[in-house]
Amino acid sequence: MSPFTVPVPLTQRPAWSSLQTESANLQATTLRDLFAADPSRVDQLTFEACGVVADLSKHRVTAGTITDLVALAEQSGLRAHIDAMFAGEHINTSEDRAVLHVALRAPSDDIITTDGANVVPGVHEVLDRMATFANAIRSGAFKGHTGQSISAVVNIGIGGSDLGPVMAYEALRFYSDRRLTMRFVSNVDATDFVEATHDLDPERTLFIISSKTFTTLETMTNAHSARQWLLDSIGDEAAIARHFVAVSTNAEEVAKFGIDTDNMFGFWDWVGGRYSMDSAIGLSTMIAIGPDNFESMLAGFHDMDEHFRTTPFERNLPVLMGLLAVWYRNFFGCQTIAVLPYSQYLKRFPAYLQQLTMESNGKHVTLEGVDVDVDTGAVYWGEPGTNGQHSFYQLLHQGTTMVPVDFIGFAKTNNPLGDHHDILMSNVFAQAQALAFGRSAAEIESEGVPASVVPHKVMPGNRPSTVLLSDLLTPYRLGSLIALYEHNVFTQGAIWGIDSFDQWGVELGKKLAQAIIPQLTSTIDPALDHDASTNSLITRYRDMKRQ
Ligand code: F6P
Repeated sequence: MSPFTVPVPLTQRPAWSSLQTESANLQATTLRDLFAADPSRVDQLTFEACGVVADLSKHRVTAGTITDLVALAEQSGLRAHIDAMFAGEHINTSEDRAVLHVALRAPSDDIITTDGANVVPGVHEVLDRMATFANAIRSGAFKGHTGQSISAVVNIGIGGSDLGPVMAYEALRFYSDRRLTMRFVSNVDATDFVEATHDLDPERTLFIISSKTFTTLETMTNAHSARQWLLDSIGDEAAIARHFVAVSTNAEEVAKFGIDTDNMFGFWDWVGGRYSMDSAIGLSTMIAIGPDNFESMLAGFHDMDEHFRTTPFERNLPVLMGLLAVWYRNFFGCQTIAVLPYSQYLKRFPAYLQQLTMESNGKHVTLEGVDVDVDTGAVYWGEPGTNGQHSFYQLLHQGTTMVPVDFIGFAKTNNPLGDHHDILMSNVFAQAQALAFGRSAAEIESEGVPASVVPHKVMPGNRPSTVLLSDLLTPYRLGSLIALYEHNVFTQGAIWGIDSFDQWGVELGKKLAQAIIPQLTSTIDPALDHDASTNSLITRYRDMKRQ
């Protein structure tokens, strides 16, 4: 039995039935009514953590709903879950592992133990090695095989070994050393590698092979192609040592690949792939923005960790956001949540969040291995504003599906240019306003719109959103925003009683692909023993390839 078994099943907890009543009431009312009824609503439902202000007033809740959601968190043992994570207990029960990404950003004098050992000194040892290496690349002191400094860094990884690094690089590009070209290769489609390297000088290129396991098919295939690309140009095996470093937990596989383990930056099995961007997996980020900015990013993560760990649930931002996600998923049937950053620098943030949220909470059984009796993780998706406004927002405003939205905006910009930033941010406020309050038929009629067109113009409103507003996108702010979502995801998983830290669902496809690869590469027609559809597709593929 899981250490977190809560004696009362989720749907039988007292707060669950209160929330059912509450949701029935709220489905019969509108945000317009809620705002009209309570002038203090915005004050009551605006929260702040680590410089991130969250306006939750445009959610379909009352102060009473928040009280009931907090009660649900308490009745679900959220406090025990949080304490267990920070105490290094093996809360990833199906893999029997601790979940300690919070240790990756702990100050050096913190003590965080798992399996009887304090992990913090090891974390700082790796951070120090990363900083020495990053500084040597940035200063030009590190030389490639032919004595030239490094001008391009290519991170090869996939999933958590790619999405965090590429998102952080894009987000913090303003702070990056522009003399360095940073590239990211993830897809096993050779196009990714070829396009990322076509204009690079092998003598000035460093590859970072990032893989927790160092066995991932896509990453290893790309890593071998990178090796060949380098050798094709430099022609000397000894060059590998000056142009390849590895980030992994698997020293044995790193050595097998031919990378000297002195050129390896390690991390630990208690760091999940999707929670690893501030481990050595962030080496490319550190090279791009420098160790000081990286440290500042870690401070942002850490401050949000502390907020999550210590703040009462009723003012705890990640907890409140997680509870709202449960509220819409289970009491309003919402299947998706849109994350809409109004910052071009955050263009990869939704993609990063997709792995964080969906690989974590896309689960169908509880920690005890029994079917969950409610829906779990929503689909997260999004695009930066204002681009999305000219594409899919139509459905958000007038479609038949309710999609809760997280808007993310900043008061200041790193790139002040005319009125751009005020125009950008006016759209955040306007979109949240339009979603919440809409436009009624009467209001549209009063503008003299023909009766036949009125229904088409009605904006139903009553569509919930969070507005996250902070001063400026800095390394610190990025760290605090990511940690906010990490703990939001944690909260949802704890309520549902699922394992947010395993990902067994990705295994079957990998295994099946391994069986199919030789059937595609074989020169003689293989005997196929799959289902009829797969057999037919493989046969057609082989035929088309031959023509
Ligand atoms: O297949 C999913 C996954 O295991 C992710 O959880 C992980 O981030 C990714 O693959 C990459 O794994 P690795 O870092 O071991 O190459």
